Amino acid sequence: DIKGFAFDLDGVITDTARLHGQAWRQTADTVGTPWTAELAESLKGISRLESLEMILAAGGHANDYTEREKEALADEKNKAYQELIKTLTPADILPGMGDFIRDAVAQGYRLSIASASKNAPAILNNLGLTKYFIGIVDPATLSAGKPDPEIFVRAAAVLDLPNEQIIGLEDSAAGIKSINAAGQTSLGIAAAGVLPEAKLHFTATSQVTLATIATKMNQ
Ligand code: G6P
Ligand code: MG
Repeated sequence: DIKGFAFDLDGVITDTARLHGQAWRQTADTVGTPWTAELAESLKGISRLESLEMILAAGGHANDYTEREKEALADEKNKAYQELIKTLTPADILPGMGDFIRDAVAQGYRLSIASASKNAPAILNNLGLTKYFIGIVDPATLSAGKPDPEIFVRAAAVLDLPNEQIIGLEDSAAGIKSINAAGQTSLGIAAAGVLPEAKLHFTATSQVTLATIATKMNQ
């Protein structure tokens, strides 16, 4: 039986995947990498420095910057991103996600956050959701990011539940791989056909409820 949920944050609970994209697009312009929808999609769930490496590589600039310059580019992106997330309020919770989180807690499920973002605590706070989660995995303490299973395995430790009793919620391909490799049940939220490896697939956050999950689990 499912007893807990490990949530990705960006793109699952709030639409910050779009804000990350907006900030990275400026970086892509700075380094001269053409910004495409495919590149934007591939950055979802990927850590800040790895995302920068991918943006540089996509434009053939993998070897054009020193470590120090790369850190400066990543810092610049983060400052732009932090300006964007400052204005987040509970009104920015994606449709249905606030109700789903409150229902799950009311029904006794345990909730944790498995986000690669170092900004996750600040965002959850702005959304007024911190109190619903037992804990947040600190991405700074991970040896490998998504698609490695480590972050979801750590989320299970936070919940104090075996992987088999956890559903992981994700909007990224890297995150779905991480959940599957951890031995948890993956729930993907994306347009039809986008996350084929997700065990349970939803096309909108508004469709994610305890009832619809139970139905899909039994299919
Ligand atoms: C999440 C997002 C990524 C982001 C990463 C690191 O996984 O999906 O787009 O790069 O977190 O976020 P941070 O806020 O630490 O730069
Ligand atoms: Mg995400």
